[in-house]
Amino acid sequence: MEKRDELYRGKAKTVYFTDDSDKLILHFRNDTSAFDGEKIEQLDRKGEVNNKFNHFIMTKLEEAGVATQVESLISDTESLVKKLDMIPVECVVRNLAAGSLVRRLGVEEGQELSPPVFEFFLKNDALHDPMINDYHIASFGWASEAQIAKMKSITFEVNNVLKALFAEGGMLLVDYKLEFGVDSDGNIVLGDEFTPDGCRLWDKETRKKMDKDRFRQGLGSVVETYIEVAERIGLSL
Ligand code: C5P
Repeated sequence: MEKRDELYRGKAKTVYFTDDSDKLILHFRNDTSAFDGEKIEQLDRKGEVNNKFNHFIMTKLEEAGVATQVESLISDTESLVKKLDMIPVECVVRNLAAGSLVRRLGVEEGQELSPPVFEFFLKNDALHDPMINDYHIASFGWASEAQIAKMKSITFEVNNVLKALFAEGGMLLVDYKLEFGVDSDGNIVLGDEFTPDGCRLWDKETRKKMDKDRFRQGLGSVVETYIEVAERIGLSL
């Protein structure tokens, strides 16, 4: 597989075309950003850790019947993926209150959410990813009603699989963000990534933060803690 021109450079990943028009390469960089790119640092080994972590999780999800973009690991920091037409929305599920939900509604961090809360956000840095609902997505044509329903059902399916996986490692899956795209056959497929950069994980007993909040809140040991998460779920890095 030959790497060609850059298609897109995000805050932590770069996407490249390949010599196969149906496949792309995701390059996970060491860049770590928070607060809409206001805080950016290079963290040693983070690209490698997130690339391998993402591959491990996506493989678990495939085994559970979730269609994902991932094809194979091609280097320490790169994965080969299916090309998707990405839908510009973020799907968030929350099992416990944290982050923007706490700020928005003034609820207590750590409050259990039963049933879990589902939220959509528009991917738009200039607008700071505003919260939207199903009607905005359908009305502006970002996805059809059937695609919206599918994104929701897959996001909840992922919750069942990953809550159980992290529980085995003594962790709580507090919340996470997923992104979807449409493949060449018109199917909704899970794209982007699932890493500790895009979810919240707490130790079940001590509630130690084991995700990107360590970076956002300056708690230190960011990559070391991501490696601990990986090891607890059976991935040694
Ligand atoms: O900030 P907020 O509490 O809304 O984030 C909810 C979840 O979605 C967190 O796990 C966060 O890391 C993730 N997220 C993300 N990318 C964004 C916004 C949120 O990965 N642009």
